[in-house]
Amino acid sequence: MAYSIIISAVVVVTVTSIMMIMLFSLANALSSPSSSTDEAEALRSTGWWNSTSAHCDWDGVYCNDAGRVTRISLYDSGKELGELSKLEFSSFPSLVVLWLDDCGLNGSIPHQIGTLTQLTVLSLGRNNLTGELPLSLANLTQLEYLSLYSNRLHGSIPPEIGKMKNLIYLVLHDNNLTGVIPSSFGNLTNLTYLFLGSNQISGFIPPQIGKMKNLKFLNLSYNGLHGPIPHEIGNMKNMIHLILDYNNLTSVIPSSFGKLTYLTSLTLRGNQICGFIPVEIGNLKNLSQIDISDNLISGKIPSQFGNLKNVEYFNLSHNKLSGTIPHSLSNYMWTEIDLSYNQLEGPIPFQLHFRTSPKAFGHNKGLCGKIKSWPRCRKRPQIILIIVVSLSATLLLSVAVLGLLFHKRRIRKNQLLETTKVKNGDLFSIWDYDGVIAYQDIIQATEDFDIKYCIGTGGYGSVYRAQLPSGKVVALKKLHGWEREDPTYLKSFENEVQMLSRIQHRNIVKLHGFCLHNRCMFLVYKYMEKGSLYCMLRDEVEAVELDWIKRVNVVKGIANALSYMHHDSTLPIIHRDISSNNILLDSKLEAFVADFGTARLLDPDSSNQTLLVGTYGYIAPELAYTMVVTEKCDVYSFGMVALETMMGKHPGDLVTSLSSSSTQNITLKDLLDSRLSSPKGPRVANDVALVVSLALKCLHCNPRFRPSMRQVSWRISASKSFPQPIGAISLLQLKNEEI
Ligand SMILES: *[C@@H]1O[C@H](CO)[C@@H](O)[C@H](O)[C@H]1NC(C)=O
Ligand SMILES: *[C@@H]1O[C@H](CO)[C@@H](O)[C@H](O)[C@H]1NC(C)=O
Ligand SMILES: *[C@@H]1O[C@H](CO)[C@@H](O)[C@H](O)[C@H]1NC(C)=O
Ligand SMILES: *[C@@H]1O[C@H](CO)[C@@H](O)[C@H](O)[C@H]1NC(C)=O
Ligand SMILES: *[C@@H]1O[C@H](CO)[C@@H](O)[C@H](O)[C@H]1NC(C)=O
Ligand SMILES: *[C@@H]1O[C@H](CO)[C@@H](O)[C@H](O)[C@H]1NC(C)=O
Ligand SMILES: *[C@@H]1O[C@H](CO)[C@@H](O)[C@H](O)[C@H]1NC(C)=O
Ligand SMILES: *[C@@H]1O[C@H](CO)[C@@H](O)[C@H](O)[C@H]1NC(C)=O
Ligand SMILES: *[C@@H]1O[C@H](CO)[C@@H](O)[C@H](O)[C@H]1NC(C)=O
Ligand SMILES: *[C@@H]1O[C@H](CO)[C@@H](O)[C@H](O)[C@H]1NC(C)=O
Ligand SMILES: *[C@@H]1O[C@H](CO)[C@@H](O)[C@H](O)[C@H]1NC(C)=O
Repeated sequence: MAYSIIISAVVVVTVTSIMMIMLFSLANALSSPSSSTDEAEALRSTGWWNSTSAHCDWDGVYCNDAGRVTRISLYDSGKELGELSKLEFSSFPSLVVLWLDDCGLNGSIPHQIGTLTQLTVLSLGRNNLTGELPLSLANLTQLEYLSLYSNRLHGSIPPEIGKMKNLIYLVLHDNNLTGVIPSSFGNLTNLTYLFLGSNQISGFIPPQIGKMKNLKFLNLSYNGLHGPIPHEIGNMKNMIHLILDYNNLTSVIPSSFGKLTYLTSLTLRGNQICGFIPVEIGNLKNLSQIDISDNLISGKIPSQFGNLKNVEYFNLSHNKLSGTIPHSLSNYMWTEIDLSYNQLEGPIPFQLHFRTSPKAFGHNKGLCGKIKSWPRCRKRPQIILIIVVSLSATLLLSVAVLGLLFHKRRIRKNQLLETTKVKNGDLFSIWDYDGVIAYQDIIQATEDFDIKYCIGTGGYGSVYRAQLPSGKVVALKKLHGWEREDPTYLKSFENEVQMLSRIQHRNIVKLHGFCLHNRCMFLVYKYMEKGSLYCMLRDEVEAVELDWIKRVNVVKGIANALSYMHHDSTLPIIHRDISSNNILLDSKLEAFVADFGTARLLDPDSSNQTLLVGTYGYIAPELAYTMVVTEKCDVYSFGMVALETMMGKHPGDLVTSLSSSSTQNITLKDLLDSRLSSPKGPRVANDVALVVSLALKCLHCNPRFRPSMRQVSWRISASKSFPQPIGAISLLQLKNEEI
């Protein structure tokens, strides 16, 4: 009896302890391989931080509510972090964002990187990483953003990358990668940006690439690609920038390119492409950069090019083009044009002389023109006239009268352009799709700038509305009398002309022409029916018309324009005065960035020191003491405007007070414009939250931690799901949200 009790007691104790040991080790197994303390240890052992506080408070380390590390962002830290393998990747199972650009990293990318399966952003650009791309990268199936540019990576691109189906951004340019472009890339149907330039990639461009339906930017330049350009590229209907220069591509430009209706740049320079230019290219109304120079292209320049109104850069030089320059290219007066080293002949359209250096036409077969350096053109119309004359006396009379009238009109038009060109730097040019709008028409339409046509004032000058005899309505900005005496205003004015004739974008106000002369001083713009965003938000009725979808769209438009100015134009342009006053809205409530009086080019040769300009309440804080202008100043002002658009009023000092404890519990709902009912539908609500979250990041007091406009414009166009209900999210949460 006693025995059995002892035995059962022993059994119970043993079973219990075995169970406890099992449970304990199970719990252990569940919590390993890492815990919050392991994470702290793993971070500390890199030697990248030396702080004694809790690791979630370290610079660039972000944790979730459970205290697990979700983001490590040390980009542009200027630090020399040494080997990437110092970071024990398997310790960070919750890591979502790893951002270590420009951190002086070296060594290879460890294959353990494949354990970071939650990662959506992996960005290690501008380091000294060597070795090959590890195959384990393909495990990162959540990855949306993979950027490894400007390193010293070699070897080929593993076809397994085709498994990263959520990739949106794949940036591997400026490395030493070899091998071919894997055909599995065709499976990356969400991919929007693909940059592989400046590597040593060879072989054909795989036709499967055409399956990447969302691709907008394709840059394969400076590689050793050969063979034909696959016509399947014409299926990538969303393409905006197609850059294939400096390869060994052969065969013809596929006519399927004519389907790429959003294309704004087409760059094929420095290949061995032959055949004719497909006339379909002339349908691509959004084209602004066309560079097919240094190839073997023959045949005529299609006259359809004259239909393209937004061309800024047009280089067909160093080819085998023949025939005449189509008269329709007269529209390219403001385009940087180069047709040299071809076999062209006949007259150069007059307007092209106006701004283009004669070099643009050099080394051709027989071009002629109206300026000194060119042989005069034979007047063929007169010979025809003589034949007609000899045929009939009656006809002679009418033809002569008509001819005279025509000639007179031509002279008037040309004088307008020519007189102004000569007078030491004074410039008078008003142009339009339809040709020249006469100066007189403008004076008449505004009764010589009568106050009753005045619709507002900008950073300088007054703005007038003018309805021309054709019915077309334009906006005019005229300097005030006293402003003309002041060199700073004159400079702003000239600056605006210079900037706006360089840049054309669907979200940048369009300049139709200008008069820059001591008699008259005005700019002619496209008229914006709805006026400024500032006024719209302050009008109780119109503010409601500007609903959430339209407000998100306005912010997107501004972001796209700034991204274009900062990153896609030849030299970056900084606006320096982004405010709600300088955002104009057209009848469809589409946003346009205006007022380029203080905009400037970031020229590598000039100092970036500046005087403080801009609008109070929108100026980046660092400008007040550094006086150095960078793109990040615009990013800050953009953040302010974006927040203002969502709040319906200027954020004031909300942003600076956000870190203080009294504002910690402000929610998104508290902030949104109360004149609108809260956003309906998950899509709109998510977009609104995304805009606010991005705006708060743009308003970071340290410019280094603000995103670039390219990142903003990229992020804002890909949507994001926030946990519901959105109104209850705190601003602090939005500020730290992983996006
Ligand atoms: C800790 O880091 C800071 C900034 O990186 C540096 O200035 C400081 O000298 C470091 N201290 C030690 C003890 O390494
Ligand atoms: C990485 O750089 C550090 C110095 O920053 C150097 O000591 C180390 O040897 C380098 N490692 C490799 C693999 O090049
Ligand atoms: C690429 O490799 C070549 C030799 O294969 C080498 O000369 C060059 O420096 C390498 N470039 C980079 C950026 O590592
Ligand atoms: C692609 O993007 C869409 C929309 O953003 C998303 O629903 C989808 O999960 C993404 N991934 C794939 C593989 O299509
Ligand atoms: C794309 O993915 C499918 C399965 O999802 C696979 O069968 C196919 O081989 C892949 N295509 C390429 C070109 O890798
Ligand atoms: C294309 O890539 C090359 C090489 O990386 C780079 O030099 C060039 O600026 C890129 N072009 C565009 C338009 O992004
Ligand atoms: C293009 O091909 C020629 C000869 O076929 C070769 O000499 C040249 O190096 C190639 N260029 C590139 C960029 O691969
Ligand atoms: C660009 O293309 C789209 C679609 O074809 C069109 O709606 C838009 O007006 C174009 N933009 C310009 C500036 O032509
Ligand atoms: C046009 O292209 C040629 C050769 O590709 C280049 O040398 C020339 O500088 C370019 N012209 C302009 C105006 O950029
Ligand atoms: C001015 O800024 C631009 C772009 O950030 C940079 O490339 C250039 O080197 C800067 N100029 C000077 C003199 O620092
Ligand atoms: C935030 O919390 C404080 C108390 O900590 C409270 O007084 C205040 O009303 C709260 N504000 C909001 C908007 O909930």
